[in-house]
Amino acid sequence: MNQIEQLISEMTLAEKASLCSGADFWHTEALDRLQIPAFMLTDGPNGLRKQAGKADHVGLNESIPATCFPTEVTLASSWNRALIEEVGAALGAEAKAEKVGVVLGPGANIKRSPLCGRNFEYYSEDPYLSSQLAKHAIQGIQSQGVGASVKHFAANNQEHLRMVLDVQVDERTLREIYLASFETAIKEGQPWTVMTAYNKVNGDYCAENTHLLKEILRDEWDFEGVVVSDWGGVDDRVASLEAGLDLEMPGNQGINDQKIIAAVQSGALSEAVVDTAVARILRLAFRVQEQMQSVTDDSVTHHQLARKAASESFVLLKNEAQSLPVASDKKVALIGRLLEEPRIQGGGSSRVNPTMMDTVQEQIHMKLTEEGAASYYPGYLLNEDTDADLIQEAVAGAAAAEIALVFLGLPQHYESEAYDRQHLQLPVNQTELLAAITEVQENVVVILANGGPIEMPWLSSVKGVLETYLAGQAMGGAVADVLFGDVNPSGKLAESFPMKLSHNPSFLNFPGEKQQVAYREGLFVGYRYYDKTETEVLFPFGHGLSYTNFEYRQVTVDRKELTDEEEVTVSVTIQNTGQRSGKEIVQLYVQEVNSQVIRPLKELKGFEKVALEAGEAKVVQFKLGKRAFAYYDETRHDWCVTSGFFNLLIGSSSQTILGSQQVYVTSTAVHQLKFDRNSLIGDLAKTPAGKQVLQQMNLAPEPSDPADSNDTQLMDEMTNKMPLRSLVTLSGGRFSEETLTHIIETLNANG
Ligand code: BGC
Repeated sequence: MNQIEQLISEMTLAEKASLCSGADFWHTEALDRLQIPAFMLTDGPNGLRKQAGKADHVGLNESIPATCFPTEVTLASSWNRALIEEVGAALGAEAKAEKVGVVLGPGANIKRSPLCGRNFEYYSEDPYLSSQLAKHAIQGIQSQGVGASVKHFAANNQEHLRMVLDVQVDERTLREIYLASFETAIKEGQPWTVMTAYNKVNGDYCAENTHLLKEILRDEWDFEGVVVSDWGGVDDRVASLEAGLDLEMPGNQGINDQKIIAAVQSGALSEAVVDTAVARILRLAFRVQEQMQSVTDDSVTHHQLARKAASESFVLLKNEAQSLPVASDKKVALIGRLLEEPRIQGGGSSRVNPTMMDTVQEQIHMKLTEEGAASYYPGYLLNEDTDADLIQEAVAGAAAAEIALVFLGLPQHYESEAYDRQHLQLPVNQTELLAAITEVQENVVVILANGGPIEMPWLSSVKGVLETYLAGQAMGGAVADVLFGDVNPSGKLAESFPMKLSHNPSFLNFPGEKQQVAYREGLFVGYRYYDKTETEVLFPFGHGLSYTNFEYRQVTVDRKELTDEEEVTVSVTIQNTGQRSGKEIVQLYVQEVNSQVIRPLKELKGFEKVALEAGEAKVVQFKLGKRAFAYYDETRHDWCVTSGFFNLLIGSSSQTILGSQQVYVTSTAVHQLKFDRNSLIGDLAKTPAGKQVLQQMNLAPEPSDPADSNDTQLMDEMTNKMPLRSLVTLSGGRFSEETLTHIIETLNANG
């Protein structure tokens, strides 16, 4: 008996039940009699939200000061694994200094719709990118001896009715998109905990979902940590324990403990199930205790890290006539109320109380030489009222300047946890202001603060657009660094910007009806849809500009043929052909040439961010194995590759493919084809025994004119697509029912 088993054997049932839920809002239960410590869990993911006073899970009450790092949507645009790990480590260090055992993050949900109110807390519309980044965030946090809680498992893609919503999603889509976004993060990131989502998936609450928690998370992915509920996300506590939910948070005043006790006493629940959950919770409690030493963290260093992370994540969406960077001797008009009241983070449970704040104005003043000047004009109100005086002042200021830097974005109440966005537009008073400014000034650059895509009907009227998303407490310094060229922008979009909301594939059934939402677009989320339907987007997934240029050449592969048990290495040379150092995000997409199953046109399967001095060239390599080529086969319940050609596409965005190679991948899987009366005659050719039967049968009647290839094709198509049972009815007596039964038995026996 190990120590944990020993302890459990000494516990009463009531003690065990009490450990399965929190003691209060943020702490687990202690059991002093057996020296079992309690520990604290708290939000995440873009900074610590430790509430010393009154507790809540929607960010209403004050928390202790902590570094407000850029939100996930911003960080994701860095596509920089190491950077995200570094930010995770800093967050972990702050948690440890505050004696927090588990940080509730990162969020790894897919951005199904740009309307989801919480998209700023998630990374991407693409599961490969999202899972890679979540993995590194987890590893960063946990490098400090603090647990991460990857959330919200799974398919939590909208806020509307999040606590009761039933997500209807087919298994293949679930596996390839929504679960894939967690899979690598969990298998390779090894989070200490996984947080279940509030919603149901295919009829069962995630907290009670045996398929998600037991069959996939535990049995397939070998997850050994603690599964914790989202706050208040448990309906039937007994069913959730049975499905594999260990810890219910927050505490339930003993109500659910009583249900657990009663279920064990009545025989409805095996005590062994409770023991398993308790064992996992104890292992976590001791793990946290072991790591709990006193450390101090350095808020100044973390602020600098927040600035570096933000500036590396900003996406330069447009830069006509090299309007950016701004020279330091320019006369600049700084316009926009958001300069005074910056939006640096989203609303809800992730809200951090920043340790300090940079302001854009101060930071820009520091960049200017004596010849330069910057004047500020609010231009609009954040309450959306149009103020003609403010517009007039800003227009006069813009006309008098050499360049207008216009700071626009979504007011706080436009996007938040607990509700979704209504549309993708900027407030009208902001676009009115912009229109007036572009009348008098031709050098206009828009700097955006928003948690997700917006429509930009005004795009052609401005020279440049810099997307900063929600960039954390050092946003001011980071913006100044990029606008004035001390940092060369290197972020790329981790999501598509549609031209209009109605172009988004989930538009017709978001946010669902009658407490249900059906993911009818299936696999075709984000660029997977825009690509396939040739729908023009405003900015594609993976897009982002730099102040320098990169050239892509020599895409090569180390083999042209491989089996699905082997790997292929793809190489490409990238050269910085411009005048200043910069970073490029090189993307690798895989495209099956003639797929037998319905697939997206291409899918991201690799990316690397590479730093290059002016003139420097580097070779970037990617390794691709089976999963890069596979799809999830619902009938075989497995990842499968069909033998065939695949294009390996190297690009600087999902729509700028700059080189490619083709490989042939052979499937090694021996999938025994089972035949019955309704199997197709054409399928016989897929097995050796079937081929023999085909030869013996010599089925196809002679076409009327052998030279007429049309006839031949017609006959072949007709015959191949007939069910085997047609042999009896259409063979003019050559096949009896008995013969057919015999053939099917022989086929299934011989494979
Ligand atoms: C959110 C979680 C958060 C928890 C605790 C819930 O409302 O969905 O993401 O970690 O509250 O604040």
